[in-house]
Amino acid sequence: MLDIRFATARNVSGAVAAVVPAADSSDDPAAARLAAVRASLARLKLGPADLDDITAFLLDVEHSGSAGTLHKLPRAGHRPDLLFFVGVGAGDEAGWRAAGAKLARSAGDEPTLTLLLPDDVTPAAVRGLGEGLWLASYRFRLGAAEPPSLRRVNLAAARSAELDAGLAAAKVVAESTRLARDLTNMPSDEKTPAWFAKRVEKAAAGVPGLTVTVRDPKALAEQGFNAILAVGGGSTRGPRLVELSWRPRGARRHVVLVGKGITFDTGGICIKPLSGMKLMRKDMGGAAAVIGATLAAAALRLPVRITALAPLAENALGADSFRPGDVIRHYGGTTSEIHNTDAEGRLVLGDAMAYAVRRLRPDTIVDLATLTGAQGVALGKRTAALYSYNDTLAKELTTAADTAGESVWRMPLHDDYADALDSDVADIVNSTDVGAGSVMAALYLREFTGPLRDHWAHIDMSSSAWSDSPDADLTKGATGWGVRTLLRWLEATT
Ligand code: BES
Ligand code: MN
Ligand code: ZN
Repeated sequence: MLDIRFATARNVSGAVAAVVPAADSSDDPAAARLAAVRASLARLKLGPADLDDITAFLLDVEHSGSAGTLHKLPRAGHRPDLLFFVGVGAGDEAGWRAAGAKLARSAGDEPTLTLLLPDDVTPAAVRGLGEGLWLASYRFRLGAAEPPSLRRVNLAAARSAELDAGLAAAKVVAESTRLARDLTNMPSDEKTPAWFAKRVEKAAAGVPGLTVTVRDPKALAEQGFNAILAVGGGSTRGPRLVELSWRPRGARRHVVLVGKGITFDTGGICIKPLSGMKLMRKDMGGAAAVIGATLAAAALRLPVRITALAPLAENALGADSFRPGDVIRHYGGTTSEIHNTDAEGRLVLGDAMAYAVRRLRPDTIVDLATLTGAQGVALGKRTAALYSYNDTLAKELTTAADTAGESVWRMPLHDDYADALDSDVADIVNSTDVGAGSVMAALYLREFTGPLRDHWAHIDMSSSAWSDSPDADLTKGATGWGVRTLLRWLEATT
């Protein structure tokens, strides 16, 4: 991972970056921007001729200071020989995150970058900057990756314990998001349920307060996790249920996070066409997010008890596949009539949620899942669908997503729609043809919340789990969506 550390601006070699605030609230924004840049350049002790050149350049390019805009000034024969000017907009965390991401993408061949921070830089700004730098410089490669050219970022600032903590938090966010992205990007020939479980065990090993329990098919059968077994039945690579638990001393609240962990979704007997199947290695993005967030909470030693549940199965096509018309008895006894084997995520989530409600008895339950194509139709590529009966919880999660640089939008849980889930032979059917696919999936999950119905939130993150192209702090491929939102929420509500 990119080496980011506080350092002095003395003896700088390589490129130097100064930040430009938008200064929109000033009477004379252009003058305020120049004054801010000149103040931060003071650390370099440049002569008046250099400063005049720089001022002329900034006026010439009309740098607006808007978040993530960047202009480069090459200065052959001078020191520093390359200057970057990057906008931080309003100077809030989001502005600094955008600036960090832009810098990581614009460093070119520079191995080292020194960033001149203003004297009044806040810990939130440093956190945003670190997140942007680290998240945008993420790469996924199988086998030996070619090393990136940018290796080191020096932050020139009057260092303090608060700024150190901001950078440390950014690093935890980046490491856990990196893990979630790695898990999601991994091709499904390697990414079996057992492989995923091993990765969790490895990541949790040696962290005091963290424990992992993995249920294999035998344990799942003994304990009645029949939906996880049914969905995983068509694959030779058997299902697992991973339970990752963070139990800090003195915690007053217990949160259960459930994440859909389909390691590949062919659709099963109701097989998907190629166009819908080719990216289905991402169908465990919810599981990756809840694991990442829990590891991050442990790294930050947040004083809240967390249990992450990842029901893992490959929805394959085989002689032992479950079929349309089958009736599955979930953990806890609810029965589902299978109308479509491609509506498999809600089935495995049902088992895990019923287990959480009956055995773990948490204060709050939040599930994340790449659950429906309909979610992306409704909200596009970057905004996940949030469902909850609890206004406070919905508001907390929305604020957390906004602060974290992710996005959710609350959707309705219309009671009357739920009639369409009625079955002739079981408690509910697993798929309907009444439209509102993401809403119907949420109403299906509602059946497993028991007495926690009003202390539950569901997030359908089908589209935001993946990015088709680089975009600010997102790289092409898995986004690790949800790690940041969940962690912010856990930080704010302990
Ligand atoms: N994993 C898919 C949903 C999905 C689609 C996630 C596209 C990400 C991108 C899920 O298991 C699924 O197949 N859902 C069906 C449900 C339907 C059969 C009721 C869908 O959305 O078509
Ligand atoms: Mn499916
Ligand atoms: Zn799926």
